[in-house]
Amino acid sequence: GGLEGAQGPVQPPECGERVSMLLAEIADVGTDRFRGGYARHGFDRADLQLRAWFTEQAERRGLAVYTDRNGNLWAWWGEPGPGAVATGSHLDSVPGGGAFDGPLGVVSALAAVDVLRARDFVPARPIAVVVFAEEEGGRFGVPCLGSRLATGAIGPDTARGLRDPDGVSLAEAARAAGLNPAHLGRDDAALSGLRCFVELHVEQGRQLDLLPERTPVAVATSILAHGRWRLTFRGQGNHAGTTAVADRRDPMIPASSTVLAARRALAGTDARATVGRLVPTPGGTNVIPSSVDVWLDARAPSTPDTRKLVDEIVAAAREASAAEGCAVEVREESYGDAVTFDAALRDELAGLLGGVPALPTGAGHDAGILAARVPTAMLFVRNPTGVSHAPEEHAEPDDCAAGVAALASVLEHLAS
Ligand code: GLV
Ligand code: MN
Ligand code: MN
Ligand code: MN
Repeated sequence: GGLEGAQGPVQPPECGERVSMLLAEIADVGTDRFRGGYARHGFDRADLQLRAWFTEQAERRGLAVYTDRNGNLWAWWGEPGPGAVATGSHLDSVPGGGAFDGPLGVVSALAAVDVLRARDFVPARPIAVVVFAEEEGGRFGVPCLGSRLATGAIGPDTARGLRDPDGVSLAEAARAAGLNPAHLGRDDAALSGLRCFVELHVEQGRQLDLLPERTPVAVATSILAHGRWRLTFRGQGNHAGTTAVADRRDPMIPASSTVLAARRALAGTDARATVGRLVPTPGGTNVIPSSVDVWLDARAPSTPDTRKLVDEIVAAAREASAAEGCAVEVREESYGDAVTFDAALRDELAGLLGGVPALPTGAGHDAGILAARVPTAMLFVRNPTGVSHAPEEHAEPDDCAAGVAALASVLEHLAS
């Protein structure tokens, strides 16, 4: 007989319960009492607790867990080596995030290992369950930080200097988490041995839910080009009661114009532009701000489309800033070109799963970063709310079970 999961063998019909049980174990970790949802950010207390929980779950299953130089966790079934098949996702969240974005891919991978053990499957190639660090960029501002460092998409010096809102640098946070910040950086040793990477993820829209076929699982085709820009507007901090309009240089005025310009720029395009974070300094009700930081998230089908969109918004920001007598500084904080997932692998997996649909997405993923180096695929699990990056994000247990069954078949196929 094969090794069993520590919680006993599991068959596909039980997978939904297994997923629910694993998610329930971490349901109280990093809840955000004030804003709702989860606050689990790279190397913070909740994240460290989740990483310890994952390590324990993996070790219970007989997997050997390693932390790579960038803080990504690798749980190995079999000796790490060439031709390995990797799966996994992330455990951190956006501010106010849901329970599924990230954790579903991790717990589904653990449940898929249980399914394969129960089937007495013996992998001919090593299998790794990976947890990537700081996927959402919720703390240090750059999404997919662990995978970007590993592939070299961000340099170690740039990464070490990133700071969280409290001024703690990534180097300091990494050191506090037991990593050596001098070792951050491109990790060819970790990636060159991979045959492929498959990330399972809750769908972040309602494309699957709206399909007449009523299938719970899809494969991914592509990701929009996307990036983050920070616009800092500077004016003159002043008194809300005594400063006449003619005397004001209020950076909130061009900041607000920029929010509206971002919406206007979307008319008639397939693009997205969002201001999800706007911070006035010093932030007093009776104080005209001295500066306002606006973070712009922009996405479009191609790099030229994205540049055009951002140029248009930035032009509006500059014009509004000048009109108010303010100054504006624009910095690109991260960028990633559009991703087309490996077509051969995608078709192979869609066929293996009985011809499931193939869908594009506007969401970024570590799989999108890894795709530059390793044949990569994604499985999406239906989300009946269509909501993501919010507490209402959801997947039904039966659909999660279908996701685990699909992932188990994929791993069995690829690791045979
Ligand atoms: C990640 O979830 C992103 O698309 O921002
Ligand atoms: Mn996300
Ligand atoms: Mn995610
Ligand atoms: Mn006063």
